Amino acid sequence: MRFFLDTANLEEIKEIYELGVIDGVTTNPSLVAKEGVDFHQRIKEIAEVVKGPISAEVIALDHDGMVKEARELASLAPNVVVKIPMTKEGLKAVKTLSGEGIKTNVTLIFSANQGILAANAGATYISPFIGRLDDIGHDGMELIKELVKVFDYYMIDTEIIAASVRHPLHCLKAMEAGAHIATVPAKVIEQMINHPMTDKGIAAFLADWEKTKK
Ligand code: E4P
Repeated sequence: MRFFLDTANLEEIKEIYELGVIDGVTTNPSLVAKEGVDFHQRIKEIAEVVKGPISAEVIALDHDGMVKEARELASLAPNVVVKIPMTKEGLKAVKTLSGEGIKTNVTLIFSANQGILAANAGATYISPFIGRLDDIGHDGMELIKELVKVFDYYMIDTEIIAASVRHPLHCLKAMEAGAHIATVPAKVIEQMINHPMTDKGIAAFLADWEKTKK
């Protein structure tokens, strides 16, 4: 399973990318706004570090506006993937962009039907939001399972990115369910790396090693 880093923070991206555990980056307007930087400039900076897919989201809500923004975003770097919200206009934009060879990531997916329609429109990726479903008392992982089942059955090429990941268990369960990718905040990657037994083990090995010197 592949991991993308879900952030627009360049320092986090540089630090985690160096570890060799992530293949791409996803951003959204909230994550970019948090950084207080120029959007296009930041996407270019990310593309200088990360060679895999980098998702950058459009702001427009109408087909023509989305397509215009998408073309601009796609021209920033060859690995930019344009994030399009799951709406009627969004689907139309995905169809247009897929015809132009521009990769898309249909975002804000909250049902299997939405995911299937996005795939039919030509989405490269879809992003079901598991954490936000959990927040409203639904089981976000059930959506991943439904999507994997249907995409496998119909041999759909669109890749499923488990998004809105809040903790390591989300990653593990998304892997078990067969999601192609999980996009994960830096904090969750840190949680996945660390284990108190590993720290304890290192301390014990070093203490024993010190004894040999006496
Ligand atoms: C990534 O593609 C999504 O925009 C992101 O995972 C949403 O996460 P959140 O629900 O924690 O804001």
